[in-house]
Amino acid sequence: MDIFKQLKKDHDEVKEMFEKLTQTRQPSSRKKIMDKINKELTSHIKLEEKHLYAHMQKHDELKDMALKGHEEHEIVKKLLREISRTDDSGKWMAKFHVMEELVQMHIKEEEKQIFKKASQVLGRSMSQELGEKYDREHEQMMAKAA
Ligand SMILES: [Fe+2]
Ligand SMILES: [Fe+2]
Repeated sequence: MDIFKQLKKDHDEVKEMFEKLTQTRQPSSRKKIMDKINKELTSHIKLEEKHLYAHMQKHDELKDMALKGHEEHEIVKKLLREISRTDDSGKWMAKFHVMEELVQMHIKEEEKQIFKKASQVLGRSMSQELGEKYDREHEQMMAKAA
């Protein structure tokens, strides 16, 4: 699977978990789902930057997109840290919704613009190679986090 399909697969998983959390009422169950979201998003961001954004930085026509995406990643990580430190359930949910909206927007932009453009510039064999590296490391990371 190429890097873009790998990343899209993670996006779909995260979106499903968002949906599940939104439908869950009990705070302790919400926190359990949030734990999974946290692990998945943290690994995703780390590997996406390593295996995609780092290569985008080397191309003038992709660089600005990678810089903007990186700043969004930083805000998502900050919100994830805040959520894990928040006890008040109203505030917790408010932070969750802000994080979710940002991630949804970010994912949309990646899939609609960034991945399209990056796949043209990076080409097929590079995308495939990066996808394989991504897959290996992602599996290792998730196994460690479980
Ligand atoms: Fe991203
Ligand atoms: Fe992503």
